[in-house]
Amino acid sequence: MTNLPETMLALILKHDGFSGRMDGPHIADAAEYIALETLPVPTPTAGQVLIKLRAASVNPSDLHFIKGEYGQPRVKGAAAGFEGCGDVVAGVDKLISKRVAFVAASAGAWAEYVIADAMTSIPLRSDISDEDGAAQIVNPLTAMAMVDIASKAGDSFVISAATSQLGKLMIGLAKDMGLNAIALVRRENAIAPLLAMGAAAVIVTTANSFRSDFETASRTLKPRVFLDSVCDQTSETVFTLMPNAARWVCYGKLSSEAPVLTQMGQFTFMGKQIEGFWLTNWMRNTPPAEQMRVIGEVQARFVDGRWKTDISARLKLNEVVDGLADALKLPDGKVIITP
Ligand SMILES: NC(=O)c1ccc[n+]([C@@H]2O[C@H](COP(=O)([O-])OP(=O)(O)OC[C@H]3O[C@@H](n4cnc5c(N)ncnc54)[C@H](OP(=O)(O)O)[C@@H]3O)[C@@H](O)[C@H]2O)c1
Repeated sequence: MTNLPETMLALILKHDGFSGRMDGPHIADAAEYIALETLPVPTPTAGQVLIKLRAASVNPSDLHFIKGEYGQPRVKGAAAGFEGCGDVVAGVDKLISKRVAFVAASAGAWAEYVIADAMTSIPLRSDISDEDGAAQIVNPLTAMAMVDIASKAGDSFVISAATSQLGKLMIGLAKDMGLNAIALVRRENAIAPLLAMGAAAVIVTTANSFRSDFETASRTLKPRVFLDSVCDQTSETVFTLMPNAARWVCYGKLSSEAPVLTQMGQFTFMGKQIEGFWLTNWMRNTPPAEQMRVIGEVQARFVDGRWKTDISARLKLNEVVDGLADALKLPDGKVIITP
């Protein structure tokens, strides 16, 4: 490595392993989980690259992770953060000097320098901004993969937390593919923007009329797939009101409530199923050529404006511990971290 500093600023994990809890991504005080420290700049091993960070995103998965409730254990003292964009400064030759979108090798995106596998470092077209580049992999690939699952089961599907960035990506994609997205939201002021984006119906889960509103939409549009990142008792109600052969695809846990199954006969007599989706498994199981095709489509959608990343707040690394909890309260967008 030449011309690289020996140390860097990083937001490190304060705890090891798993918490054994499932409280959801809410953060009251980031100082409980992370601290700003100086670490040695890491050295890439075979097949890896060292990336100088331009921007990292804060996803719900990052928040579950720092709290010890994600699909992999924390390592106390290691940097937090999964996704971002930056310039390759060492490692696999063909990527040196390229600006890439990346998912950090184990974690570590919330730092001045990050290690990522070359395989999951995607060179960015010059017409993509750093902020769009920082949210180019996790949500866009998940949106493409899950709408593909839904489209194979019928022409209508249900999305919970539809105001999320991922929800909005899926609504736009559904519209372009001629599919009916039934969007579930928890606040009324989300109805108009999501209808304008192309949702076939927007239903407010907190309204008194929620049950009958959803029954009407379900009877009319016959959705067979429920893409659910909330997974609470309301989700269970939605699932029970869906038609025969409906699949409840759980891919997030935004609510801390554990749902109770109330209609076991539906599994026997209506052929309903509950399953999960995790992008990590999709990347393991999808042939590289198909992943490259999907990545190309993702970049094209950002370049021509069909997709965009809404930003709610920007924090520098040294502002995150004090500022993250308040930044996360702002609606309708991602918090972006810069060095
Ligand atoms: N399985 C996978 O591979 C995978 C990949 C990517 C993302 N995900 C999951 O996808 C979900 C969305 O991610 P994102 O980055 O798009 O999120 P985001 O932009 O940060 O948005 C979070 C959204 O969640 C809503 N929300 C929070 N708590 C809620 C609750 N208890 N009930 C209903 N709505 C709630 C908020 O609604 P308001 O607007 O009303 O505040 C907000 O729209 C997350 O659960 C994430 O973990 C999973």
